[in-house]
Amino acid sequence: MDLVDLFKSKKIGDKVKLEGWIRNNRDQKEFGFIDFFDGTCLKSLQLVYDNKLDNFKEVCHYHVGSSIVVDGELVKSNGKQDIELKVEKIELLDDADEDYPIQPKRHSMEFLRSVSYLRSRTKTFQAVFRVRNVVSFAIHEYFQNNNYLYVHTPLVTACDCEGSNQMFKVSTFDFDNIPVDKDGKVDFSKDLFGKQAFITGSGQLHGEAFAMSFKKIYTFGPTFRTENSNTKVHANEFWMIEPEIAFCDINGVMDIEEDMLKFVVQRVLDKCPDEIDFFDSFVEKGLREKLEKLVKSKFKKITHKEAIDLLKKAKVKFEFKPEYGEDLAKEHEKYITEYFNSPVFIYNWPKDIKAWYMKENSDGETVAAVDLEVPGAGELIGGSEREVDLEVLNRKIKEFGVDKESIDWYINLRRFGNCYHSGFGLGLDRLLMYVTGIENIRDVIPFPRTPGNCEY
Ligand code: 4AD
Ligand code: MG
Repeated sequence: MDLVDLFKSKKIGDKVKLEGWIRNNRDQKEFGFIDFFDGTCLKSLQLVYDNKLDNFKEVCHYHVGSSIVVDGELVKSNGKQDIELKVEKIELLDDADEDYPIQPKRHSMEFLRSVSYLRSRTKTFQAVFRVRNVVSFAIHEYFQNNNYLYVHTPLVTACDCEGSNQMFKVSTFDFDNIPVDKDGKVDFSKDLFGKQAFITGSGQLHGEAFAMSFKKIYTFGPTFRTENSNTKVHANEFWMIEPEIAFCDINGVMDIEEDMLKFVVQRVLDKCPDEIDFFDSFVEKGLREKLEKLVKSKFKKITHKEAIDLLKKAKVKFEFKPEYGEDLAKEHEKYITEYFNSPVFIYNWPKDIKAWYMKENSDGETVAAVDLEVPGAGELIGGSEREVDLEVLNRKIKEFGVDKESIDWYINLRRFGNCYHSGFGLGLDRLLMYVTGIENIRDVIPFPRTPGNCEY
């Protein structure tokens, strides 16, 4: 049976059969203890064995990491848990070699990253990926409960949403023999799609087409960016949720973001109490309180200009001077989130530093864009109301140098039953950092892809 069901429903005196792995094995002369886990819950179970077992001597030498099948009776325990298993029979399926890297001691996160294919067996990563699972399900639950359609936007695309210089190129060309045209330029007409293609950096444009058909939609899938950023919050492959809502303006989208985040965090608090306690003790002190506070709080909202005002007044020496009309540096985001000590919406951004598809405000200087900043993970969500004025949109496409041909269909959406609409992109991995307290994005992704790293 699964350990999770055992802890839920089994009583002292029950006989059970379990399959799983040894986290630790300590033997004394006449008896021994195995710290046993099977991955179905964070808790492990203590197995107690004694020299009445035929194979007592061998059991004493089972190594950490070995897989076993065990039969026994649940008895009262004086240890950390109220029950333990008195072993009646234990069978070794595979003894882990002595050089098994995960030993019962504290390993550094850097070391564990170097053995990503095994680190998911440690308590820390069991907790991380269990929360990742619950968060993903809760996101679907939130949108499904609120009449959103889940849409699978393409991963291979010729459309330029967040900038084609940010996208990985897709080709079937033989790299040693790339066809060129008469000017010596790569001849993409000879490639599989007859044009240049990329792996997507965002499903938003296709999401907008579906929002014009289904009113409320969301995507949830992997996203790829080529940025060569060696930071704690950037990965080249990450998961993004991109809702798009017709008949919704920038204020509406802020409300949805706040409502959704509170729902997801509440689900984590309800479904992962052991994991949150674990992170609270070993990763981020005060995590539970932070999450409980988030659910009850009202998120702060400030304009980009107000954010700069606040930074200019700060009695902190910043490396980068905060300026109106300019982007916020990491240190600025950090100051603002710590100042409010809660998630903060920053809206109405200078138009030149934000994407081409964002709605221009009547001041002629800003766009109706909104980022949600949180302590630790920084920018958790980026969103905006979309530009629906055909003339303005065409001008922006030109100004930003976007390949118009590849998105003529997107522009047409503004001609066939156009309506005001908004959407956002939530970085799942950054959300995981926020709810677990884990400081590096590499440690919330099962097999992270970052510059210089495509191991496993
Ligand atoms: O701000 P971004 O680039 O926005 C978009 O892609 C829009 N098309 C979203 C939309 O309006 N539909 O990315 C959205 C979010 C960021 O706020 C961040 O959480 C995450 O995606 N993100 C990354 N996460 C990890 N590694 C990276 N390199 C990321 N780039 C963005
Ligand atoms: Mg952004």
